[in-house]
Amino acid sequence: MTENPQTASERDSLFESLGGHDTFVALVKEFYRGIADDPILGPMYPEDDMDGAVWRLTAFLEQYWGGPNTYSQERGHPRLRMRHAPYKVNPEARDAWLSHMRRAVDSLDLPPMQESLLWDYLERAAHSLVNSFDA
Ligand code: HEM
Repeated sequence: MTENPQTASERDSLFESLGGHDTFVALVKEFYRGIADDPILGPMYPEDDMDGAVWRLTAFLEQYWGGPNTYSQERGHPRLRMRHAPYKVNPEARDAWLSHMRRAVDSLDLPPMQESLLWDYLERAAHSLVNSFDA
């Protein structure tokens, strides 16, 4: 879930076909617009470091989709399951996360093929990060 199985040139064109840097900046900006006020997710995110959180998610997604690998230069291997271990990611939290992401993906107005590639990945990644079934 943290490494895209495409070749280097496929990754370049994939990143560009999604709209490159601007797409990921817009996606994550819209996603985080809903987070602070979300009753489940709001309390999980670092109130005093939202700019940092925006940077981490943007850089990770850009890297995954074939953009610059600044995320790993700054943060090392993504290890997303490990990095989510401190948070209770139950199905309710996953669905809340996905609902903000759905709104953010819709706001991009991507061509249908790119949109479904992006959305399928986000959905699978979110399902793979569930680490609790407690209410
Ligand atoms: C399933 C529901 C999810 C919940 C409840 C959740 C929650 C969180 C929280 C609370 C943080 C800490 C914010 C920060 O300080 O950066 C975080 C970080 C992060 N999340 Fe998630 N997340 C979810 C799904 C995902 C998915 C699907 C992805 C990737 C596609 C993802 C990628 C990341 C990344 C890259 C970070 C920053 C890791 C780091 O470098 O420290 N998350 N997440």
